[in-house]
Amino acid sequence: MSRRRQIYEGKAKILYEGPEPGTIIQYFKDDATAFNAQKKGMISGKGVINNRVSEHIFTLLSGIGIPTHFIRRLNMREQLVKQVEIIPIEVVIRNVAAGSLSKRLGIEEGTQLPRTIIEYYYKDDALNDPMVADEHIACFGWATQEEMHDIADMAIRVNDFMSGLFAAINIRLVDFKLEFGRIWENDYSRVLLADEISPDGCRLWDMVTNEKLDKDRFRQDLGGEVEAYQEIARRLGLLPVDPDTEVLDLESHRKNRGL
Ligand code: TMP
Repeated sequence: MSRRRQIYEGKAKILYEGPEPGTIIQYFKDDATAFNAQKKGMISGKGVINNRVSEHIFTLLSGIGIPTHFIRRLNMREQLVKQVEIIPIEVVIRNVAAGSLSKRLGIEEGTQLPRTIIEYYYKDDALNDPMVADEHIACFGWATQEEMHDIADMAIRVNDFMSGLFAAINIRLVDFKLEFGRIWENDYSRVLLADEISPDGCRLWDMVTNEKLDKDRFRQDLGGEVEAYQEIARRLGLLPVDPDTEVLDLESHRKNRGL
């Protein structure tokens, strides 16, 4: 069997050259990192769940007219996506105070924000992904003002849609991170939603108990991260999956926990 060419290995995913020009295969790992990889670990089955959750959300978003890089899921851990030029900006959308916002501004975690906040972080591990303003993005040419306009527009639409999607399954969408890419057609480029949307890059709290059902369980050593990811997939209606899956016996697991 011929080996595929690996293009890039990130903290949670590996990118391979796709079968056709302009395509990429995203392979989802179980590896988990936090605090710019100062903390490293593994969340068993995470890659399988993130692949599925991201497929689900990207498909729904494309149904409401958000252009995305997603083409199709290939197997339990891989999906085919369009090759894009990643815009080096992490777009964070916040509805409720948590994480770095709470820490930086001293706002109690869980405080509902009076309006949604969009923040931008420059993707650079060596600099620890510093927060930047629109002015920095324009000044250093990381994205054009037109692209940033499209990005902010899409971020708000994605937030509205996902807030409703999760509210319907009793989950509060506290905050999340998006990444965008540009795709070239002749001399023109357009912006697509790229990367992934999964509990790795979202804060998802149970609406009744406020239990954290996302990567904060790993970041904060709360335990139960495998179950939290499974719970998200289950509430989204994405489990159980077929018997060959690497996701373990979820039904009996839930019964043991009295869920
Ligand atoms: P923060 O509160 O640590 O700034 O994180 C805001 C949101 O962005 C949270 O849902 C987690 C997500 N996030 C990532 O996906 N990758 C990152 O590197 C960081 C720092 C946050």
